Amino acid sequence: MPGTASERRDSARTAVVWEALGPVLEPPGLDVLDIGGGTGGFAVRVAGLGHRVTVVDPSPDALAALSRRAREVGADVTGLQGDLSDISSLVDDADVVLCHGVLEVVDDPAAAMATIHSVLRPGGTLSLLVAQRHAAVIARAMAGHFPQALELLSDTPSGHPGRTGHRFTADEATALVTAAGFTLGSMHGVRVFADLVPGSLLDLEPGATAALVELEKAVATRPEYLPLAAQLHVVARR
Ligand SMILES: C[S@@+](CC[C@H](N)C(=O)[O-])C[C@H]1O[C@@H](n2cnc3c(N)ncnc32)[C@H](O)[C@@H]1O
Repeated sequence: MPGTASERRDSARTAVVWEALGPVLEPPGLDVLDIGGGTGGFAVRVAGLGHRVTVVDPSPDALAALSRRAREVGADVTGLQGDLSDISSLVDDADVVLCHGVLEVVDDPAAAMATIHSVLRPGGTLSLLVAQRHAAVIARAMAGHFPQALELLSDTPSGHPGRTGHRFTADEATALVTAAGFTLGSMHGVRVFADLVPGSLLDLEPGATAALVELEKAVATRPEYLPLAAQLHVVARR
């Protein structure tokens, strides 16, 4: 298991996504586009697996951090400043598109999905990671933020995302993907428990991170746990 406390927590949060991406990222040499790839948490590791990775992100600060992170590990990642809505004019078509944590902040997730569909080669794969609404409502309520919990409860995943950003149910995420013309491959619940566990437990208890990762993987495909997952990970084909 990774060394630092933040690496351990990160591995518990992302293990399910990486496992689903395993077969998608075979063989090496694919053109991978990471939309809203930010500081490169996914992009740099994907480049390390032998793919040509381009990150499009509107934030110059995030792109600078991405460059630093890539340089540190000797990875080659192209960073372009831009918005999801402009990607067709910024990049060539891709074999794989990662869209992780971005649909939450766009005004029109359906239009965003159509744009992503247009930059994927036929047979290409979309990896979509979105925040899941029911878990977000519970988290707000448990923190005592009752008005925000109420606001999220009646959020619709279109229109201005507001202060907290859009959240999606499993049905809404499925509908968005299929309406854009994708064929749904898999859906996993991500971070069912990882955000609920005290960080100190992962820091102090030997083997706790590995056991948590195993538990996250075990519940990820169980539909009854999807409403408890902080995020939903969808893999779909064009
Ligand atoms: C929550 S972060 C996710 C970063 C990364 N994808 C990950 O999963 O670790 C959201 C990222 O989306 C970027 N972003 C926000 N609005 C965007 C847009 N309209 N088009 C593309 N990226 C956007 C932000 O700058 C930020 O880097």
